[in-house]
Amino acid sequence: MTYFADKSALVADIFSRYPDSPQGRRSALMPLLREVQDAEGFVSEARMAEIAVLIGTTATEVRSVMSFYSTYHTVPTGKYHLQVCSTLMCALAGSDELWDHLVETLDVQPGEVSPDGRFSVQKVECLGSCGTAPMLQINDDGYYENVGPGKCARILADLRADRQPLPDNPVPVTVTAEGRQVMANGQTVGTSLTGLGGGTV
Ligand code: FES
Repeated sequence: MTYFADKSALVADIFSRYPDSPQGRRSALMPLLREVQDAEGFVSEARMAEIAVLIGTTATEVRSVMSFYSTYHTVPTGKYHLQVCSTLMCALAGSDELWDHLVETLDVQPGEVSPDGRFSVQKVECLGSCGTAPMLQINDDGYYENVGPGKCARILADLRADRQPLPDNPVPVTVTAEGRQVMANGQTVGTSLTGLGGGTV
């Protein structure tokens, strides 16, 4: 069965956010990908083909857009998907050593899931927090900063026990009607697009 076969209301709601035109339908690609990934953990070839039909493009085009973003996965990930920033500042601060440690300790390579289903690993480009390098992101849940050997050991011990440690910096998860990002802990981020008031965190 196709994923969206019984989700016509959801699809209509997503399309309603964009102009009613061929270009508008193609703009719905990202939320459709997010919908599948949130539900299934990754976007398979079959789902890419299904989305391509919905928005009037090809599966190749869907894959090419996906490949630009490290947040979309074409293969299943572990319960804890560990993303190590490999860009310059993090590399200078020790992300290569962090990566080698994770790969050896967990015995997983990119695209693999550890035998217990818990872990997968991925190198990603700059996470935008270079001042707290080296950086690790777990799932979509937040940032773990200045991850040296001791902190890495504590994080892995928690994850092995299925206790996900609190991130140092939860990622923004919602955007208000005023255009303000709100982080998972309820703090607002930056300046309102409409009010230009308020503080930063
Ligand atoms: S280089 Fe790693 S967060 Fe920017």
